[in-house]
Amino acid sequence: MDKKEWAAASAATLVKDGMVVGLGTGSTAELAIRKIGKRVKEEGLKILAVATSLQSALLAAECGITLTTLDEHFPLDICIDGADQVDSALNLLKGGWGSHTREKVVAAAAKRLVICVDDSKLVERLNKAVPLEVLPYARRVVFEAVQTLGGTPKLRTHAFAKGVAPFFTEHGNMIIDADFGEIEDPKELGAKLSEIPGVVEHGIFTLAKKTEVHVGRDGGVEILKPKR
Ligand code: A5P
Repeated sequence: MDKKEWAAASAATLVKDGMVVGLGTGSTAELAIRKIGKRVKEEGLKILAVATSLQSALLAAECGITLTTLDEHFPLDICIDGADQVDSALNLLKGGWGSHTREKVVAAAAKRLVICVDDSKLVERLNKAVPLEVLPYARRVVFEAVQTLGGTPKLRTHAFAKGVAPFFTEHGNMIIDADFGEIEDPKELGAKLSEIPGVVEHGIFTLAKKTEVHVGRDGGVEILKPKR
């Protein structure tokens, strides 16, 4: 198994009969969804799931996992997702696939957030550009506000359209990736980004208290839990 598979397999074993499970988005979450689906088919595991994106919803349905909504089931027992970076305090950077808004809502509804990553995602401090889901008509306002905060904004485009066509989220919004270099205080930066009019949601997750990280390494998995 490769590193992502170790992490996904480890997270998938945490799902038990009767649970309501949040299903993340991205290539590692996809592996976890497939593994949970295999357990549903082979072990008769009985669960309900809430997806964090259309992509995950379609995959879950294909894997035989029954979907529900947060209106019908709250709170969730567990949410299993990936991340773009994890810092030493278990703060996360998410949104590489542009789904961080729905991911954050589902994570907020879960009692336990299980993140599966390969070890390349571990950093001392978050330092990748922060994805911002932005109302299209607020683009200029958000660009200016990010620059005022000392960041460098970049409108996300589709690689396959030669970087010309804007990327749109499933909510019809745009993504601005805001580069602040090394982020000293993720909570503080997150609060400032939330104040910008037109920003629907940013990709900094500071939910360390209920977060555990399953890190895929060569030949196994390491589980990181918050320091008490
Ligand atoms: C989706 O918007 C993201 O938050 C993903 O969870 C994150 O980008 C990780 O994706 P990979 O597992 O594909 O690296």
